Amino acid sequence: MNSFGRLFSFTTFGESHGKAVGVVIDGVPAGLEFDETFIQDEVDRRRPGRNSFATARKESDKIEVLSGVFEGKTTGTPIGIVIYNTNQKSKDYSKIRDIFRPGHADFTYFHKYGIRDYRGGGRSSARETVARVVAGAVAKLVLRELKIEVLSGVSHIHGIGSSDYNFHHARKSEIYSLTPKLEEAQKQAILEAKENHDSVGGTAVVRIKHIPIGLGEPIYYKLDAVLADAMMSINGVKGVEIGSGIDSTTRLGSENNDEMDRHGFISNNAGGILGGISNGNYIDIKVHFKPTPSIFRPQTTQDIFGNVQELKLKGRHDPVIAVRGSVVAEAMASIVLVDMLLLNMGRTIDGIRNFYHK
Ligand SMILES: Cc1cc2nc3c(=O)[nH]c(=O)nc-3n(C[C@H](O)[C@H](O)[C@H](O)COP(=O)(O)O)c2cc1C
Repeated sequence: MNSFGRLFSFTTFGESHGKAVGVVIDGVPAGLEFDETFIQDEVDRRRPGRNSFATARKESDKIEVLSGVFEGKTTGTPIGIVIYNTNQKSKDYSKIRDIFRPGHADFTYFHKYGIRDYRGGGRSSARETVARVVAGAVAKLVLRELKIEVLSGVSHIHGIGSSDYNFHHARKSEIYSLTPKLEEAQKQAILEAKENHDSVGGTAVVRIKHIPIGLGEPIYYKLDAVLADAMMSINGVKGVEIGSGIDSTTRLGSENNDEMDRHGFISNNAGGILGGISNGNYIDIKVHFKPTPSIFRPQTTQDIFGNVQELKLKGRHDPVIAVRGSVVAEAMASIVLVDMLLLNMGRTIDGIRNFYHK
């Protein structure tokens, strides 16, 4: 499966060291102003090679729009966008042609398909996520019209962090840190791991603001379920929490319930979702990323013939996934919201009347 979404949906194609990566986005409402500069800016936030906290692979990640746009507006037909790969160094990977990298998808891809493009991880490479960021940026063009904001940042790196989020700061930070006071320590943790030929894990937070009440389909397309699905589909994500999430398991009901006064909810432990439906409060999603599997320390593993081998990896890799991953998480959340908005339009008689009488 290479597609995601019901009404607003996308399909990605391409591999890390192939000619290009691309996306076909379907269900984009017609007549939307197609702000290509905005889309490129979003893609640039995920781009590799920008600083020492990311892989040194330098890609321009220039988007090329192939279809679905006429005179600066969307036409309601599929939007095809391609990004050419320009900085592959396939030779770096010749050593792992027959060897499985611990923690990566090499082993499962090989056994599932019997063939794998080992260069840069092929299709299992996070190179694919650039295509999702493109789709997310198009979704954001829709959300922008409705003043719905989707923000993200990194709350924790290797256990260093806090729940005091500053999204404004994250936007400017080299590591998208949500905590200005801890940013230096977080950077040090990344650089130290990198110096030791190792990697670190981390947590990203996505916050959705100005969301209407009523998004989410009970029972089997719940907003929280689909958001979790979207987040877990991102490479390296190992856990997702909505609102107070796992913390709520240690609380009493009286501590965890969000009581209401005449203005609305007094707290937001539910994370903006009740019964799978948005309750109008902001939505907070915590996305937990494992450490980058490709590290440069010698590791014991198997080759495709079952022989035990010592792997000494070469190449260029992110010392942390959560940083660039936070941008991908923000994109996936935006896609889910637009899909839910489109689905919601037909869920009430008023929605149908508005369409009929427009
Ligand atoms: C933005 C982003 C960048 C990543 N960069 C790397 C990388 O440089 N090297 C690597 O081995 N894995 C990287 N990963 C993670 C792998 O793609 C991922 O761990 C692998 O596909 C195995 O999947 P799993 O961890 O979900 O089981 C990255 C993931 C994301 C989201």
